[in-house]
Amino acid sequence: MKPRIAPSILAADFARLGEQVRAVEAAGAEWLHVDVMDGHFVPNITIGPPVVESLRRVTAAHLDVHLMVSEPDRFVDEFVRAGSNSLTVHVEASRHLDRTIEAIRASGAGAGVALNPGTPVGAVEQVLGLVDTVLVMSVNPGFGGQRFIPYAVDKIRRLRGMIDGAGLGTAIQVDGGINDRTLEDVVGAGADILVAGSAIFGSSDPGRKVKEMMEKAAG
Ligand code: DX5
Ligand code: ZN
Repeated sequence: MKPRIAPSILAADFARLGEQVRAVEAAGAEWLHVDVMDGHFVPNITIGPPVVESLRRVTAAHLDVHLMVSEPDRFVDEFVRAGSNSLTVHVEASRHLDRTIEAIRASGAGAGVALNPGTPVGAVEQVLGLVDTVLVMSVNPGFGGQRFIPYAVDKIRRLRGMIDGAGLGTAIQVDGGINDRTLEDVVGAGADILVAGSAIFGSSDPGRKVKEMMEKAAG
C-alpha cells in the first residue's frame, strides 16, 4: 500500500478550520486525523463530537478520530454518530480491549488501536487481526510539535514483521514528530499512514506541504 499522509487538525487554525481542511483535501489528503484529549488520559483537552459533526459537513475525507481518553467505550457511539469513519483507542486506556474493539465494530466504524511510546508492540499482538490499523505513537500523546522518539522506528519494523508474518492487511499508522526528516525512516520501517500536524499546518502553505510529503513518502 502506498503510504498516506493524514494531516492532524490539532495544529490547524481552529478559527479557519473548514478552509484549512479543504486546502489539504484539495491537495490530495484522503485521511484527516482528529485528536481528542480528555485532560485525564493525557494532560491536555481538545475537542469533542460537535467539531467532528462540523467537519463532516465540509469534507468527504476519511475522519480518523484518535481518542486519547480514559475508558474510550463511553464515547464510541457519540463519535460515530457525529460522522467519524474510524476510531483509534489506546491500549493503555481500555480495560477490556477486545470489548472496546467489538463496540467500535458494532457501531459500523473502522477500528484502530494505539500504543504509547513506552508500551511494547506485544500489547496488540492478540488483536492484530481484529483491527484495521495500529497506531505507533512516536511522541508521548498530549501535544503537537514534539520531537520524534527514534525507537518508534524499531517498533514499526517489529509490527510490520508481525503483521506480514501473520498474513494480515492491518495498516500501521505513526503519529508524532513526523516531518521531512523523520518521514523516510518510518516509511522504510513499514509505516502506511503518516500523521503530521505541525509540519503541515505550521507551514505557510499546508496544501503544498501535503503534496510534498506525499511525493516524498511515495519514494
Ligand atoms: C499528539 C497527537 C498528534 C499530534 C501530532 O498527542 O496525537 O496527532 O497532532 O502533531 P505533530 O505532527 O506536530 O507532532
Ligand atoms: Zn494523534
